[in-house]
Amino acid sequence: MENLGIERDKMEKRLKELLDMFNIKELRTRELNKLSGGEKQKVAMASAIALNPEMIIFDEPTANMDPQSTVDTFSIVNKLKEDYKTIIIVEHKVDEVLPIVDFIHILSNDGNCIFSGTKKEGLKFLINTDNNLQINMSESINYSKGLKEEVFLYNREEVLEHIIEKLPLNGNSNNLKNTNCNTNLIVEAKNIGFSYNKHKIFNNLNLEIREGDSLAIIGHNGAGKSTLFNTLLGLNKRYEGKINFLGKDIKKIKKGKFWERVGISFQNPELQFITLTVYDEIGLGLKKIQLFKKGKRENNLRIFRYF
Ligand SMILES: Nc1ncnc2c1ncn2[C@@H]1O[C@H](COP(=O)(O)OP(=O)(O)OP(=O)(O)O)[C@@H](O)[C@H]1O
Ligand SMILES: [Mg+2]
Repeated sequence: MENLGIERDKMEKRLKELLDMFNIKELRTRELNKLSGGEKQKVAMASAIALNPEMIIFDEPTANMDPQSTVDTFSIVNKLKEDYKTIIIVEHKVDEVLPIVDFIHILSNDGNCIFSGTKKEGLKFLINTDNNLQINMSESINYSKGLKEEVFLYNREEVLEHIIEKLPLNGNSNNLKNTNCNTNLIVEAKNIGFSYNKHKIFNNLNLEIREGDSLAIIGHNGAGKSTLFNTLLGLNKRYEGKINFLGKDIKKIKKGKFWERVGISFQNPELQFITLTVYDEIGLGLKKIQLFKKGKRENNLRIFRYF
């Protein structure tokens, strides 16, 4: 807005509208590199629509957003349609995007456009096609595929309404206990707390992770999920409480040994890249534990086969 010489008071008004629209008023004075993944996407979208462009392209706008923010974001996009804007969305979340689009184009794995048409025709195409397109089929499409009659359902709610009567009601909630409670304790966090300056992210948190566990940490954008992991891994050093890794205080463990046993893939993968090629990057850790042999490209590539 500054570049186009928009008057200050108009700029302020528009800024407030956008902060309100995306529910990010409290982020107004924050530094961009200190925002969470989902918060960054909201700021990027707000700045893309600040000037009311006639055509907007969103390339996976909600890839890092929590479910509620995803729904809110698509309803913002839907509102933009009322102003006669042209909107193009690249999206994997078929269920969320179907209700708000009018036309669909589907690209095949080799980049050809294999379908172009209205939403209803697109749905019919997806229902009748084998899913070797590596498209994350929407729940409505997968559900419709199994039906004898032709039914067009556009989102999860419609599918739920359609099947709700058939659901058995004899579920047993007592079966929810942790099945791995007898295995070795790997991570034990006792009363841990962490703040960025005075901004408290979590407090008095207790967590046990045992051998064999598959654990999901769920929370809205900005809840502190990435911060929690950075803390458990000893990357955020100024935390309260105690974190043990295999019974030993994480602060006293040698970092080299630790990273041989723990792998992490960051939310923003660029943060972890330190070399220039895929080959060097994947080989980097292997080099440290002497699995990666200098000059033996063929042997090394065999180690990469899982990727
Ligand atoms: N380096 C930092 N300095 C100050 N505040 C930060 C910093 N990193 C994150 N925050 C803030 O701490 C809160 C928690 O951030 P975090 O990245 O842990 O959230 P998250 O749960 O991973 O969110 P998302 O689902 O969007 O990835 C957010 O409000 C974020 O803006
Ligand atoms: Mg995160």
